[in-house]
Amino acid sequence: MKGQTALVTGASSGIGRAIALALGQAGAQVVVNYRSNAEKAQQVVTEIMDQGGKAIALAADVSQEEQVAQLFAETIRQFDSLELLVSNAGVQQDAKLVDMTLAQWETVLASNLTGAFLCTRAAAREFLRQGPRPESRALGKIIFISSVHTVIPWAGHCNYAASKAGLDMFMKSVAQELAPQGIRVNSVAPGAIKTPINEEAWSTPEAEAELLKLIPSGRVGVGADVAQAVVWLASEAADYVQGTILYVDGGMTLYPEFAKGG
Ligand code: BGC
Repeated sequence: MKGQTALVTGASSGIGRAIALALGQAGAQVVVNYRSNAEKAQQVVTEIMDQGGKAIALAADVSQEEQVAQLFAETIRQFDSLELLVSNAGVQQDAKLVDMTLAQWETVLASNLTGAFLCTRAAAREFLRQGPRPESRALGKIIFISSVHTVIPWAGHCNYAASKAGLDMFMKSVAQELAPQGIRVNSVAPGAIKTPINEEAWSTPEAEAELLKLIPSGRVGVGADVAQAVVWLASEAADYVQGTILYVDGGMTLYPEFAKGG
């Protein structure tokens, strides 16, 4: 990733943080986007710089058109070009359908789906504007962080599942549209990864034991599991990979309950 700039949205914690660190280690200049936690974003920047990398933190709420425009403009102003967007920013606001407020529905769709649209549009415009660059065979690369819940229905989380399923079809449509221009578009779909978003599901031994019943590989994932998949997808080694969803889920999508039944 030497000489390439990577913008990672939602990179102050969780999976985004792990991706930013891994891309920094792979030699990219990293833009650590965050919405509100400047201190945590700065810690990610410091960690990348301590390892000899280059990084900056930039605030923006990805669901806001004007803030996204500023995020990309500032990225180019500081790093001159952009080679990779990792559209990772996402939230959960869980509720049973009958209790779900319109605000909960809209907040999740705004971050997880509208945010992906706004960032993808801005990235594609930038890739086309800057033209081919020697650092990367592709004109530009976009990687979405999706979820196993595009294929596993999730009671109590219908807003989240709908947003991620929408993201998959957005990804494929954009991948088809941008491929002729040399822009590579793919997704990584994580399963259960130990991050703050799902802390309840793994932070006590009882909860973790329940969660492990859903994971054939027998462990809960960590951020680096997802980050290494992203680094590979962004690399020249994956230059012919287009419109694909790479599941990084320890087999969660394999209907684990069928191992002993059916
Ligand atoms: C969710 C996590 C959940 C995981 C597996 C992810 O997309 O954000 O909360 O643990 O899927 O169910």
